[in-house]
Amino acid sequence: YTQLLAALVFGYLLGSIPFGLLITRAAGLGDVRNIGSGNIGATNVLRTGNKGLAALTLILDALKGTAAVLIAGIYGPELALVAGFGAFLGHLFPVWLGFKGGKGVATYLGVLAGLAWKVALVFAAVWLAVAFIMRYSSLAALVASVAVPLTLLYLGRIDYAVLFAVMTAIVFIKHRANISRLLAGTESRIGANG
Ligand code: G3P
Repeated sequence: YTQLLAALVFGYLLGSIPFGLLITRAAGLGDVRNIGSGNIGATNVLRTGNKGLAALTLILDALKGTAAVLIAGIYGPELALVAGFGAFLGHLFPVWLGFKGGKGVATYLGVLAGLAWKVALVFAAVWLAVAFIMRYSSLAALVASVAVPLTLLYLGRIDYAVLFAVMTAIVFIKHRANISRLLAGTESRIGANG
């Protein structure tokens, strides 16, 4: 149990690094929480108009999840899973920001890449398809994150399917405001800078 707890805390600490906030602040763009949706994720960093910083936020928020999985995985597969979940929770509930973190999509993808990279490709393909057709980042993330536990179930990875079903449920809860806006037709589209 000590090892599992250590993996959870290790993942949490990595995941709690708010790259979107740090990167935009370092670039002199102020506090990203004061613009757009107020979120610290790549989608909202894109609303600063800086595509490079948005891409960097996406990559680093994903990589912290992948790193947590791969490093903890050296000590055992169950520790990889727990550290990945810890990283996801760290991104969503960082102690440094009064537990008000991001919505978890990039870190979800990064954890998935570390545990089952082929399924991460499924996530990316679904995300890109929905985003290309509908131009909503949130909708793309919601649809892609539903596809993940279903794909894992289909592949017979029940342990991962359960983990990602829980993470998908949390992603949905974190997207409550986005879901309301999608239903009301007021969600901002990618590239609309809203
Ligand atoms: O999944 C994308 C989601 O994080 C949307 O971000 O800033 O539009 O709430 P935002």
